[in-house]
Amino acid sequence: MKGVILAGGLGTRLFPLTKATNKHLLPVFDRCMVHYAIDNLLRAGIDHILIVTGGPHAGDFLRVLGTGKDLGIRHLEYGYQEGEGGIADALSIAEDFADASPVTVVLGDNFTDADLGPAVRGFEQGAHLFLKEVPDPRECGVAVFDTDDPGRIIAIEEKPEQPKSSFAVTGFYIYDTRAFDYVRRSEPSARGELEITTVNNFYIDDGLMTWGELDGLWLDCGSFDGLFEANRVVAESRRRGEPRFLPVANGAREP
Ligand code: DAU
Repeated sequence: MKGVILAGGLGTRLFPLTKATNKHLLPVFDRCMVHYAIDNLLRAGIDHILIVTGGPHAGDFLRVLGTGKDLGIRHLEYGYQEGEGGIADALSIAEDFADASPVTVVLGDNFTDADLGPAVRGFEQGAHLFLKEVPDPRECGVAVFDTDDPGRIIAIEEKPEQPKSSFAVTGFYIYDTRAFDYVRRSEPSARGELEITTVNNFYIDDGLMTWGELDGLWLDCGSFDGLFEANRVVAESRRRGEPRFLPVANGAREP
């Protein structure tokens, strides 16, 4: 299994902070946002990682991450997304890196202490989603379940005004190599982007989707509130002396 972190986009929701650097390099307490995404992959046993970025501050990643060796990454690659064609467009850049291997994909602004490892190790084929029940999922992809078989997802709706469930699709996904064909078959959405939800719906229609609940905290650091909350959570965790958000490279890797 290889890992892909999608860290492009202009981060307009976080202007003016993102005029200075890429969103994923902003601080979450004493580390950059992207460090936590990297550790999510390392903890799951994934140390071949591609970071897809874009925009005017892409070079900042090299300064911050370098080869990634001191973080515990065995092989680090960078990809560059021209423009802001959407999450699925950013994913398509990972096709050569994946080289037909399955990939765990992390949206770089998603923040969690959940362990992706069991799903990664249990993955065989198709795609796997990590869902999280939230009070108001209208800003997310939302799972629609079969009324006759409540555990079966029949579709994902992207940012629906009237969500059909309270289960949000988090920014952690596992895909086999079919994902890249599905991106090629995708049409841009009303906002002009290739949506990851379209890719997920191809998998669902072909009966190739599994899901589990994200077992832990989940925040979207792409908004000021989410970014502030992530900072607060890590600061308090550190004060309590917990190992939860410590760098994997400093010995915090799970057994
Ligand atoms: O946070 C989970 C949600 O993420 C899902 O529930 C939605 O289904 C999914 O569409 C996505 O929605 P957002 O509107 O929150 O996505 P956003 O535009 O904030 O992009 C999320 C990450 O993807 C961001 O950290 C950077 C990366 N990205 C995004 C775009 C649009 C890219 O690398 N390239 C892009 O072109």
